[in-house]
Amino acid sequence: MITVSLKLNGKPVARAVRPFTTLLHFLREELNVKSVKYGCGEGACGACTVLVDGEPMLSCLLLAASVEGKEITTLEGLGTPSNLHPLQKAFMEHFATQCGYCTPGMILVAKALLDKVPTPTRDEIAEALSGNLCRCTGYIHILNAVELVAKGNGSRRS
Ligand code: FES
Ligand code: FES
Repeated sequence: MITVSLKLNGKPVARAVRPFTTLLHFLREELNVKSVKYGCGEGACGACTVLVDGEPMLSCLLLAASVEGKEITTLEGLGTPSNLHPLQKAFMEHFATQCGYCTPGMILVAKALLDKVPTPTRDEIAEALSGNLCRCTGYIHILNAVELVAKGNGSRRS
């Protein structure tokens, strides 16, 4: 066993894990972070996306040991039911979520994009989300929701 220490949604966490434990397993099974989803387990769907020091990464492809000392953000770190993040609110209000399995990954990728590029074009949004698969929505509503938040970013700055 090895001990992994990291910051999860702003709080320090340390746990003993087997050396080949994936970050996905570590988050879901050891730390009870259930927004992080197991989809394909091989880097092809984006359902397991988390932010590692602000960058979207696939937690099914990372070992927990490889994020020692890093800052991990999951959907639980964005908003609360009574105080939703603008992206969560937009997804909910604009039908961008149906079964919801892909939604945490989609929102985290969108957040990372908007943190870097506050007013991206629709093409830039589509490109950023291209690694995240959704079997339900047809993607249009997801793009609409992110675009609406991006437009809000633009109007806040003007
Ligand atoms: S579960 Fe990680 S990319 Fe599909
Ligand atoms: S909402 Fe069901 S997979 Fe995207």
